[in-house]
Amino acid sequence: MAGKITLTMLKPDAVADGHTGKIINHIIEAGFKIQAMKLTRLSKEKAEEFYAIHKERSFFGELITFMTEGPIVAAILEKDNAVEDFRKLIGATDPKKAEEGTIRRLYAQGIERNAMHGSDSDENAEIEAKFHFSGLERF
Ligand code: RTP
Ligand code: MG
Repeated sequence: MAGKITLTMLKPDAVADGHTGKIINHIIEAGFKIQAMKLTRLSKEKAEEFYAIHKERSFFGELITFMTEGPIVAAILEKDNAVEDFRKLIGATDPKKAEEGTIRRLYAQGIERNAMHGSDSDENAEIEAKFHFSGLERF
């Protein structure tokens, strides 16, 4: 059965550009319930841990610099089929390839400064949820 949660981060570009409220509203209107949410900032070590899967990629250094440049909003979102439905809502990694009406198409600046993160599997959603939140912060 498809899982019920996904982990998102509104990335530093989206928060700095003042898109936080509009994006959270977009997510709620799409039927996701907020199980946990916070404004926070990733340290270099935490960003490297979160994106460890990409550490051999050419863009890793730039990605870490970008993800630590300012505050992010982290949230656990709940919905049936959460991971797949949320990745549809945010659109392709490159906003130029993202479908009309998706969050990245609406708010992202480019393939790296792409406004949002969404978990890519049920297993990673649970790992990433625990990365950002304790049990007491989940409702
Ligand atoms: P995310 O993990 O942030 O939800 O994004 P994603 O699954 O759509 O894309 P992924 O392949 O996991 O890449 C992680 C993030 O790295 C940056 N990136 N930059 N310069 C580049 O070619 C490049 N490619 C990826 C993006 O911020 C991407 O979301
Ligand atoms: Mg990814």
